[in-house]
Amino acid sequence: MKQVTRFGVSVPHSLLGKFDKYVEEKRYPTRSEAIRDLIRGALAAEEWKDVSGEVMGAISIIYDHHTRELGERIGNLQHDFYTNIVSTTHVHIDHHNCLEVVIVRGGADTIRKLADRIISTRGVKLGKLALLSTGKNL
Ligand code: NI
Repeated sequence: MKQVTRFGVSVPHSLLGKFDKYVEEKRYPTRSEAIRDLIRGALAAEEWKDVSGEVMGAISIIYDHHTRELGERIGNLQHDFYTNIVSTTHVHIDHHNCLEVVIVRGGADTIRKLADRIISTRGVKLGKLALLSTGKNL
């Protein structure tokens, strides 16, 4: 087990009240667990400034599969970046709409470029890139 350090934190009453509500809503077992995740999140956010860093990510898109050649264009894009694609999940939401989640890994610059190209493809209604650190340095 990693060595653990305990430290005291002074916070205004009202802020702690809001935080305790957050801890409860997110179902954290303890404040400490919630604070550890917040610290990791803040440090991971800093890592995005290091554009040469290795990242994991998920590109989620919603599109209408009736849009002409859209599925093929998205497929071709994924083949262009096949070394960065870990897995793709496709969900048929209804008669028209599809959700596709593409799990990616690689250099942050490459992943951003791939996400931009997929999300900006004509016919893609919604798109979002969620970047995560590989966790190696956390
Ligand atoms: Ni579909």
